[in-house]
Amino acid sequence: MKDSLKLVNKAVVAPVSSKVRQVVNGVKSDIVDRLMHMVRQEYTVMPRFEFHQPLDYNLETFPKKFDAPVIVEGESLPLPPVPDRMGYSADNEDYLDWGREDKELLMEQINKYLGKDEDIAILDFGCSSGRVLRHFYPESQAKNWSLYGSDIQAHPIQWMRENFPNDFSVFTGSTQPHLPLSDNSIDVIYGFSVFTHIKYHWDMWLMELKRVLKPGGLLIQTIHTENAWKFYYENKHEAWVTDNHSATMLETKDMPYDYFYYGDICVSQVFWKREIARKFWGRYLTVLDVIAPPGERSFQDWMVCKKEG
Ligand SMILES: C[S@@+](CC[C@H](N)C(=O)[O-])C[C@H]1O[C@@H](n2cnc3c(N)ncnc32)[C@H](O)[C@@H]1O
Repeated sequence: MKDSLKLVNKAVVAPVSSKVRQVVNGVKSDIVDRLMHMVRQEYTVMPRFEFHQPLDYNLETFPKKFDAPVIVEGESLPLPPVPDRMGYSADNEDYLDWGREDKELLMEQINKYLGKDEDIAILDFGCSSGRVLRHFYPESQAKNWSLYGSDIQAHPIQWMRENFPNDFSVFTGSTQPHLPLSDNSIDVIYGFSVFTHIKYHWDMWLMELKRVLKPGGLLIQTIHTENAWKFYYENKHEAWVTDNHSATMLETKDMPYDYFYYGDICVSQVFWKREIARKFWGRYLTVLDVIAPPGERSFQDWMVCKKEG
């Protein structure tokens, strides 16, 4: 069993030549993809490309091409085409509303804890193609906010680079805890559903995010807790849940562990008990609040933290 697992791991991490791919594609790509997917769900394999997903991570992205951006009347910025929305709504209005709602929820915390509303430097950590960051464009124009976005996937970052104005400073990051930003330079760092996927180096990431935060700056990140566990358990018959989650989790009604994780890089999932997150994160930053899932569509808790100083 141990040997066959080793072989499976080797097969999953091995680069596949385009010839082999073509044959596999022609014959049984669906079955192979499903098998790989199942293996990746249950077993930890090292990322195939070490640090991030470059533009040629999937065959389809090389040569790089995007569908046409979606133009919505009255919107100053184009919307990403549906394949570049990271699974978020294919309906344009719904996609926009969801991002706007998350931005408004963030604004509540910023107004409550930051004590300023002009000249704010804000980083969307794991911004994808800008679902939430786009809604801060008015603040960048009217209140001199500086907008930063990073993601370990080059594809959505490239999409923003090509389709958003230069006011958006976006860059492809790394799974290693490093950001190319100066110490004490950012007022607010937020992330939606990013620490839900960070299995390794979460503590180093917290310290790195703390490094770039200004004293008094805010870190707001969503996480999976008992609430998300319950949500997935209750929706365990939905394909999007079964396809992405460990059977071990879906068979267990109440979260029995302090801390639990599974899966491979972007498809990995991490769960914390609320009180454990409060205690562990509190070693690095002051935890101001752990908010139960606040939005209508939300099932993730919010960690609201501050860098003292
Ligand atoms: C579920 S998606 C959410 C995307 C976006 N935050 C949103 O709400 O629309 C998670 C994103 O986090 C990114 N990600 C995961 N780990 C990251 C890391 N260490 N640094 C930057 N981005 C990361 C993934 O590539 C992915 O785009």
